[in-house]
Amino acid sequence: MRIKMKITMLPGDGVGPEVCREAVRVLKTLNHYYDCDFQFDEKPIGGAAIREHDNPLPDATLQACLKSDAVFLGAVGAPEFDHLSSQLRPEAGLLRLRTALGGFANLRPAISYPAIADCSPLRESRVKGADVLTVRELLGGMYFSEPRGFGPDKESAFNTMRYSIPEIERVARVAFDLARTRRKKVTSVDKANVLETSQLWRNTVNAVAQKYPDVKLDHMYVDACAMHLITTPTRFDVLLTENLFGDILSDESAAITGSLGTLGSATIGGKVNLYEPVHGSAPDIAGKGIANPLGAIASAAMLLRHSADMPQEADDLEEAINDVLEAGHRTADLIEPIKTALAAKRHLASTSEMGKQVERAFAARLDGRFAYHAV
Ligand code: IPM
Ligand code: MN
Repeated sequence: MRIKMKITMLPGDGVGPEVCREAVRVLKTLNHYYDCDFQFDEKPIGGAAIREHDNPLPDATLQACLKSDAVFLGAVGAPEFDHLSSQLRPEAGLLRLRTALGGFANLRPAISYPAIADCSPLRESRVKGADVLTVRELLGGMYFSEPRGFGPDKESAFNTMRYSIPEIERVARVAFDLARTRRKKVTSVDKANVLETSQLWRNTVNAVAQKYPDVKLDHMYVDACAMHLITTPTRFDVLLTENLFGDILSDESAAITGSLGTLGSATIGGKVNLYEPVHGSAPDIAGKGIANPLGAIASAAMLLRHSADMPQEADDLEEAINDVLEAGHRTADLIEPIKTALAAKRHLASTSEMGKQVERAFAARLDGRFAYHAV
């Protein structure tokens, strides 16, 4: 297999650089097995870019991203920039990048791994078997709609939530297509009892559903959904929702796994796909080598599936993550929530040790695949 990919790495702020390093380490494993040429080109974004270039998305970064086969981002955001206006903050760099790349469907899977089910604040019997894929609309809604701003004297402020039918249709199609590869169920989440955008959302999703008679569709209000995600996470398969609701519900869905640090994401549908862990820059633990790299590594698996056309290797990498957890390796975030007696049986791993464990488990899976082919 001959694979050549130019990947622009945007480590960004906080723990971003640490977890990106582990994703790169794991992807490079493939070079030993295939005629692979993964080229990683690093560029600044977010607070790191503001410090160097006074701009959260320098033009050189944007141009490199647009010319690459995939973009991989660590995290953006740093408390030292909290006082800046929205347009100048590190987060603005990421939002501008998302718009420029054009990916409108942000896929955020949350899976209950049996090995770490005891990390979840939810009872094991509730999360067992839970596997929720949030499909978050990423380029519309309150994040981008105009008008927005502060009123005179900053004594009031306003944002707008706007959606058009084509914007809803295209993300709904992605959700239904993905549901067909899973348990064939879409739950569309809105606030149609109050918001016009949600009424348009619901009608449009119903119209798209006509083309997918094999997929079961239901609708849920976002407040009820927030409750059901916690009480009965197993009732969800694909959860389809707009930008702001998706931001909130995908963080909430981390409770299923037990740590936000394990969640990866892929943004598809535009010119270049974007991969990023769901967790943020976590400035409180940055630079200590204790961040969980599994979210970044899970994002790398999604890159293999959605950009490198290597679905089997993506499965192998996801299984390698599971192998490492089954073997008892844990970053601090996966040890703290459990009781001391049990925690003593786990192996505390640093960010890079965890990355190396996954690298080894991934190589073992690939070895198995090659041994099988050789017979
Ligand atoms: C996320 C983040 C971003 C978002 C921020 C950093 C702009 O919270 O990817 O979930 O709100 O989309
Ligand atoms: Mn978020």
